[in-house]
Amino acid sequence: MEAAGEEGGDAAGDGAAALRQRLAAAGQGHVLRFWPELGGAARRALAAELRDMDVAEINCFFRRARGDGGGGTTAGLDARMEPVPRDVLGSASRDRGLLPRWESRGLAEIAGSRVAVLLLAGGQGTRLGVPYPKGMCDVGLPSRKTLFHLQAQRLQRLQQLAEEQHGTPCHIPWYIMTSGRTMESTKEFFLKHRYFGLKKENVIFFQQGMLPALSFDGKILLEEKGKIAMAPDGNGGLYRALGAHSIVDDMEQRGVQSVHVYCVDNILVKVADPRFIGFCLEKGADCGAKVVEKTNPTEPVGVVCRVDGVYQVVEYSEISLATAQKRGPDGRLLFNAGNIANHFFTTAFLKDVVNTYEPQLQHHVAEKKIPHVDITTGQLIQPEKPNGIKMEKFVFDIFQFSKKFVVYEVLREDEFSPLKNADSQNGKDNPTTARHALMSLHHCWVLNAGGHFVDENGTRVPAIPRLKDANDLPIQCEISPLISYGGEGLEKYVKDREFRAPLIIDEDGIHELVKNGM
Ligand code: UD1
Repeated sequence: MEAAGEEGGDAAGDGAAALRQRLAAAGQGHVLRFWPELGGAARRALAAELRDMDVAEINCFFRRARGDGGGGTTAGLDARMEPVPRDVLGSASRDRGLLPRWESRGLAEIAGSRVAVLLLAGGQGTRLGVPYPKGMCDVGLPSRKTLFHLQAQRLQRLQQLAEEQHGTPCHIPWYIMTSGRTMESTKEFFLKHRYFGLKKENVIFFQQGMLPALSFDGKILLEEKGKIAMAPDGNGGLYRALGAHSIVDDMEQRGVQSVHVYCVDNILVKVADPRFIGFCLEKGADCGAKVVEKTNPTEPVGVVCRVDGVYQVVEYSEISLATAQKRGPDGRLLFNAGNIANHFFTTAFLKDVVNTYEPQLQHHVAEKKIPHVDITTGQLIQPEKPNGIKMEKFVFDIFQFSKKFVVYEVLREDEFSPLKNADSQNGKDNPTTARHALMSLHHCWVLNAGGHFVDENGTRVPAIPRLKDANDLPIQCEISPLISYGGEGLEKYVKDREFRAPLIIDEDGIHELVKNGM
């Protein structure tokens, strides 16, 4: 690099020339175009960023993702897709009789400290548009709890349930994958909230990798004159990160055999769901996916299916409308196994993935509008249409390597309400729908446990807790996860009693506009 040793030059010394050469050889020399204009600190930061970057590998990812270098293909995907067969499917509604068995198997595993949860929290939350990690969102519940807070308390309650049933203390380690964009603020948030009552040593943060955004012809884009436009490498960056940070070793040392992996944004997520874990273990599966029935062809959820006989998720961005609209003889969508990003893996399977299969995973390409510095003029461009790509691996891309894959279907109202958009953008999957979904579920729990709601005149509110649409307002009802994980144990609080909303049940008791017990 010609600047080495110049005024404000970098600390790179001879390494700088090598770096320049390496970039030029890979056809990415343009990223140093503005080097002469940069100050010393900016030069050092850019040189450090580039030194950690394997540009030859990035070029190779680009070629493979664009289809020049082998790997899978989405060509003719529609014709090659088949729905999930019934024999790998368990259903929380159709197999009701088996739920107690699955639940007790799962709780026994939790009690033996053989279960961990792994949260994917490295996304940038672009659609939601908040300047902090999504898990820190408060969707306006009466308690003002954030998504992280709810998940932490569910874990605490589950540990307690397992301990009560089995009489042994246990832990559910919580692995949290962040990215360069979310690590510091996530860690600070947990520290500030004292890990929401969990033991610090059981909350393990690790960071996924980042990749540069590229132009359509594979050139690295600059976010600023001295800064590469970097983005997290997708939630499938998990597997490389597991290896890089020895996370599977840590799981093995702790005796973890089953891992529940999930996305941060689902307010109803049943972390370490004992029924799901028990179901997967009873089936002898190494890999499983939880799904809800997809009823609307254009809903932005991937579908679990087989392609060329191999299990995978076909993303909502990859399926054609005609295929998404196909219906089976029962009138339901043919591809109705809607992926809710809740996966089960055995630790042994994850180990194989990290050691053997990860390099075979191919990046998916997303065409995006990427703000960047024009290499010729030095101007910052805010594109109005997609001008480049981001390359991402997906967490479910390892299903293909499973030796025994199963699917577990649950009811949407019980388990799935994702937070994707801002309230202002769209009537779906926003803070309001998330808040309403949680309160509506908790209303149901109260009714199931024998409680009733009355209006301001004391008349019983009809027991129709499910919301019909986004304009339907739920009864204000929130139950702390520390009191109930999935609706259990509420009789002692609510049976044969009438309540006036808002009703909050938490560790300090019942807070409401009380009408006396009946
Ligand atoms: C995801 C699923 C989709 C599913 C939907 C349900 C994937 C690839 N797609 O789609 O099949 O139907 O959820 O809501 O899983 N994340 C990272 N690192 C990244 C990118 C994302 O950790 O580099 C995390 C996010 O923090 C989030 C999760 O992955 O927890 C999902 O990311 P998001 O981009 O919201 O996925 P969707 O497109 O909604």
